[in-house]
Amino acid sequence: MSEQVAARGQWSSKWTFIMAATGSAVGLGNIWKFPYITAENGGGAFVLLYLVCVVLITLPVMVGEVMLGHLGKRNPVHAMVDLARASGGSVYWAMIGILGVIAGVLILSYYSVIAGWTMAYVGYAASGTFEGAGVAAVTALFDQLLNSPQTLLFWHTLFCGATIFVVARGVEAGLEKAISVLMPGLFLLLGGLLIYAVTTPAFAEGAAFLLQPDFSKLTSRSVLAALGQAFFTLSLGMGAIMVYGSYLPAGVSVGRVSFIVAIADTLVALMAGLVIFPLVFTYGLEPAQGPGLIFLTLPNAFAQIPGGQWVGGAFFLLLLFAAWSSAISLIEPAVSWLVERFGWSRARAAMLAGGISWLIGLLTVVSFNLAADFKPLANMTLFDLIDFVTSNILLPLGGMLMALFVGWQLKASMREQATADLPSWVYTIWLWSVRVVAPVAVLVVMVNAIVTSLG
Ligand code: TRP
Repeated sequence: MSEQVAARGQWSSKWTFIMAATGSAVGLGNIWKFPYITAENGGGAFVLLYLVCVVLITLPVMVGEVMLGHLGKRNPVHAMVDLARASGGSVYWAMIGILGVIAGVLILSYYSVIAGWTMAYVGYAASGTFEGAGVAAVTALFDQLLNSPQTLLFWHTLFCGATIFVVARGVEAGLEKAISVLMPGLFLLLGGLLIYAVTTPAFAEGAAFLLQPDFSKLTSRSVLAALGQAFFTLSLGMGAIMVYGSYLPAGVSVGRVSFIVAIADTLVALMAGLVIFPLVFTYGLEPAQGPGLIFLTLPNAFAQIPGGQWVGGAFFLLLLFAAWSSAISLIEPAVSWLVERFGWSRARAAMLAGGISWLIGLLTVVSFNLAADFKPLANMTLFDLIDFVTSNILLPLGGMLMALFVGWQLKASMREQATADLPSWVYTIWLWSVRVVAPVAVLVVMVNAIVTSLG
């Protein structure tokens, strides 16, 4: 992205926006997080809830968030100030942008540690470590990685550095091109693994775990987790998609592009689930393994597949790129704000925002080893806690405020101009979704989770 606001960067087409937004949305959230929190929350019923949240809450919020960026044409903090002023509202709406900057830096702090695991696994897989390895060896390798703060720190630092590097250079240079090759690559490889999963003896069992709802397994915490995941996986509620929307060329349909991104993202998550769970049951593993799930499961398959060394290496490499293109969007709100507010260079802004994430990431690094038993609140480790506060609280709150702003405060003419291409019945449904359905749903889910966890 060019540095001057006068020549503020712009995606070269609607298609690049779709690529970039999909690059942001598809990441560890789909392939690493979705399977393990689905397992922790009992399977099918959780998946159904997550899908309901996507359709009823996050898709409408996404249209709103892209719209705010597209109309505001600035970083999330200033875009909110400008739009609030233009609509006769309070500048306190800028809180949305500030919360987003904070949430992004916090999420990147642990995202980078997990992306670091992926980096380590590219090496393990490509060097043939999994060849002929059994379940015990695969598990031992993962434990060994997690028990070494130095190793985790090394990869975390490398990933943070790589993120800072790309963000410093600007979103357009290189990234656009890289994403448009790597995303389809990941999709194809996942499709290949899915074909393999179908041939395993436990495919039916795995698919049933993912798709057959058993509502007795749900708690109010799971409902909140499903809501949080719906925001997290679509990169919503903290301004990332807003910044990306601000680089959108004029005359693009905000509604349509949001729809395409949401579909692509959901497909990837469901495919990942359909690959992982059959393998979990085929190898006699426990689904509720926590954050290690894919690292404990997939290598067993790579040990069996002919050419597994290369399939595995390619898989973790593509996952790494997916994580990279997501990580970039996590600090883009902070960076664009620092640049436009203080006139800093992108490099300086990226180093500050990324540096803070790196530092906070040390908490996640030690939460898997030195501080594994340190559970300050509700039996959660430091990693669990940062993840919980950001995904399940900050993102839904941010999304709710954006929905309220778009629905009630934003000047109607601006809202209508941005959605002029939509049939009027679609517009009406969307409007009432952001005005009432999404905010009320977020509120109910949160209050419910708080009340039951107190009681
Ligand atoms: N959506 C990404 C994933 O699923 C993570 C991510 C990128 C994100 N940018 C975000 C999450 C902004 C929340 C907000 O891996």
